[in-house]
Amino acid sequence: MKPSFAIVGCGKVGTALGIFLTSAGYRAAGFTSKSLSSAKRVADIIQSDHFSDVPWEITRNADVVFITTPDGAITDTCNSIARNRGFANNAVVLHCSGALPSTTLSIAKKCGAFIGSMHPLQSFASADYDTNPFQGIIVSLEGEDYAVKMAKEIVTDLGGTSVSILTEAKTLYHASAVVASNYLVTLLDLAFRLIGAAGIAGRDAFDVLKPLIEGTLSNIEKAGIPEALTGPIVRGDVKTVEKHVEEIGLKTPELLPLYKTLGFYTIDIAKARGTISESSTQQLKRITAQKCKVPNLSRASGRTK
Ligand SMILES: NC(=O)c1ccc[n+]([C@@H]2O[C@H](COP(=O)([O-])OP(=O)(O)OC[C@H]3O[C@@H](n4cnc5c(N)ncnc54)[C@H](OP(=O)(O)O)[C@@H]3O)[C@@H](O)[C@H]2O)c1
Repeated sequence: MKPSFAIVGCGKVGTALGIFLTSAGYRAAGFTSKSLSSAKRVADIIQSDHFSDVPWEITRNADVVFITTPDGAITDTCNSIARNRGFANNAVVLHCSGALPSTTLSIAKKCGAFIGSMHPLQSFASADYDTNPFQGIIVSLEGEDYAVKMAKEIVTDLGGTSVSILTEAKTLYHASAVVASNYLVTLLDLAFRLIGAAGIAGRDAFDVLKPLIEGTLSNIEKAGIPEALTGPIVRGDVKTVEKHVEEIGLKTPELLPLYKTLGFYTIDIAKARGTISESSTQQLKRITAQKCKVPNLSRASGRTK
């Protein structure tokens, strides 16, 4: 028989867990949230009578407790459940935050529970689910052995694939996910603003750059970094980079610091590829080095929307 579970915090992730753990054969010990209506909404979806706005009334009956409140409320929520003896002996307590380590749940250990974190690398944008958002995704796990073992089984049953990370590596792991997702948006915003200043704006900018973006991603997948790197820096084309810097400095000076910083770090990737001479390396480093204070990035031109 599959373990029973409780959801504390019935928002986007809590709702998805409630629905798809139930589909996978796990028994719902119940649902609890800051507002009773949120807990009832999920309980209704899976036709359960177990919901409450008093978390320990629900959690003490669960083999696995998911604390899926916003990150800022996880510790306080866990503390108040533990103070009210709301975790069963040998229960597993998990949160789903990418940024916080499992140790944020440490107080639950005083009740004899095991702690862990289970972070789905997925964007949960609403609490309405037609399809299983865990299907085919990566879920990172860390924490006490027993909690990680249980979480691994849960991830498999949800249709995902788990990877284990070290508790002390959690912050860097999360920083990496932020760069890959959020800062990719920032990087593309830079590209859109430059092409916008060149006269191609809005949806056209996206259509022009999309094949390039997809081709680059595919090259990274096939050949890895640094082999996927193309363009003036890896060719040691100092003059082209110099012209970019001059022109951006004239037309969109607010974008120059980010362009230069990206160029500066790209030189090291080109060096790892072994295609540029020491003299080109030094010239490129001189051109892309930051000489001035970073100005306030105004949102002037070239947006896609
Ligand atoms: N959204 C994502 O894409 C995503 C992806 C990966 C991981 N995560 C992680 O998943 C966790 C939940 O995120 P989410 O996006 O599902 O958040 P969310 O949609 O904002 O849901 C959080 C829920 O917790 C309830 N809540 C707030 N404070 C509470 C408290 N003190 N006690 C009990 N319930 C409380 C909320 O209030 P009501 O009861 O008033 O509704 C809400 O229903 C976070 O740790 C987040 O980092 C999110």
